[in-house]
Amino acid sequence: MPTPRSDALVFFGATGDLAYKKIFPALQAMILNDGLDLPIIGVAHSDWTIKDLRARARDSLTKAAKDKGAKFDKEGFDKLSALLHYVDGDYNDPATFDAIKKALGKAKRPLHYLAIPPSLFAVVAQGLQKVGCAENARVVVEKPFGRDLASAKALNATLHEVFPEQSIFRIDHYLGKEPVQNLLYFRFANTLFEPVWNRNYVESVQITMAEDFGVQGRGAFYDDIGAIRDVVQNHLLQVIAMLAMDAPVGSDADSLRAEKLRIFRAMKPVDPKDVVRGQYKGYRDVEGVKPDSNVETFVALRLHIDNWRWNGVPFYIRAGKNLPITATEVIVDMKTPPLSLFDEIGQKESNYFRFRFNPEVIIAEGARVKKPGEKMRGEPVELVARHHPQREKLPYERLLGDAIRGDNSQFTSDESVEAAWAVVDKVLTHEKPVVLYKPGSWGPTEAAKIFQGEEGWHDPTPEESFPC
Ligand code: BG6
Repeated sequence: MPTPRSDALVFFGATGDLAYKKIFPALQAMILNDGLDLPIIGVAHSDWTIKDLRARARDSLTKAAKDKGAKFDKEGFDKLSALLHYVDGDYNDPATFDAIKKALGKAKRPLHYLAIPPSLFAVVAQGLQKVGCAENARVVVEKPFGRDLASAKALNATLHEVFPEQSIFRIDHYLGKEPVQNLLYFRFANTLFEPVWNRNYVESVQITMAEDFGVQGRGAFYDDIGAIRDVVQNHLLQVIAMLAMDAPVGSDADSLRAEKLRIFRAMKPVDPKDVVRGQYKGYRDVEGVKPDSNVETFVALRLHIDNWRWNGVPFYIRAGKNLPITATEVIVDMKTPPLSLFDEIGQKESNYFRFRFNPEVIIAEGARVKKPGEKMRGEPVELVARHHPQREKLPYERLLGDAIRGDNSQFTSDESVEAAWAVVDKVLTHEKPVVLYKPGSWGPTEAAKIFQGEEGWHDPTPEESFPC
């Protein structure tokens, strides 16, 4: 059933890092491409005025354009600027919420976007409720949703006191990425994969999320969470869910969310002995990081999924800062043929599927072909499909647009977020010290030891560029 569009956007944390890096560019794109035309009310406690916020938005758009090698779009900025309002105030002060209500004017169905620490969710939700701004409203909340299973449950309970589950949108920007959505499409729009997408043919699955930069001025934030909470519990488990779930019974949001929940619930809690945590040398000197920090900037782990499709197939996850390259890549390693008729084919030479999400979008199949010559000897080749989209939507542009329309298919439900925390809960508290690694390396060598078979980590390399 179509749900009514939100008629105003209130975004808390308007002077913060996320707003600067992602939200202003997404809003400008929504204005230019989708005709977004509703009041946008920034809220923060920074002693700013609307003039400061507009200057910040201009800066953010200038930087985003420069990063893309494009020119600053004055028309887009002017339109955004005209829609912007600003409320400055303490979230504990009822006057802040009176001012928000006033700024909302005639709006009846606001969308509140909480780009603020989870510790403030309760006070903001209650503040909105007291002035009547939670009625018919939707709320978008940022990740990480809590710190562990217990705090996620408590957060869900707190939000449910004010908003029904249907109105809560737990955002994970990975779900707004084109190649991540394509995983689902690719699997279920083709008949080719389903027969082999199971324990009978798949040897192992691995995903590497490598970043060639450090914590980029986010020392204090990062040191409170670490890699498992920052990217594994959310982005990477979501990718595993897309890779491993069964086909939903329909393409509607409820069917998709139901199937995802089933796969999260089938994931076994990760055993602390199947985890290697690393920290790059020099991390402790970053501003905001504790001098004796034991927080991981790298993690490698093994995960199992307890269901008929995947029993016995290991899923490996590796994520880290200051690695040799920025790339996110999945490898689905297939089993070797039952008999070696030609050359000896070990696990390392077997067939595989490769999905590259970042920076390029690639789907490849690794196969073997005969080398020219008299002997029946082979060599590996890749059948590669590349995508060169003209203009891809930014993840926040797509997801905020969905939330404004009330489409929650790409947002995480209360039960799924809790099930995903349950997978990593046991490995959040263990006290083993992190292993130090050299910036620019592939993390601690110990990470290789969590492999059960002979396949080992596949390190993403820069892609060759082909003419389009
Ligand atoms: C964020 C994490 O959620 O995702 C960052 O907090 C990480 O640490 C980022 O760098 C990666 O996202 P993307 O879209 O740049 O791959």
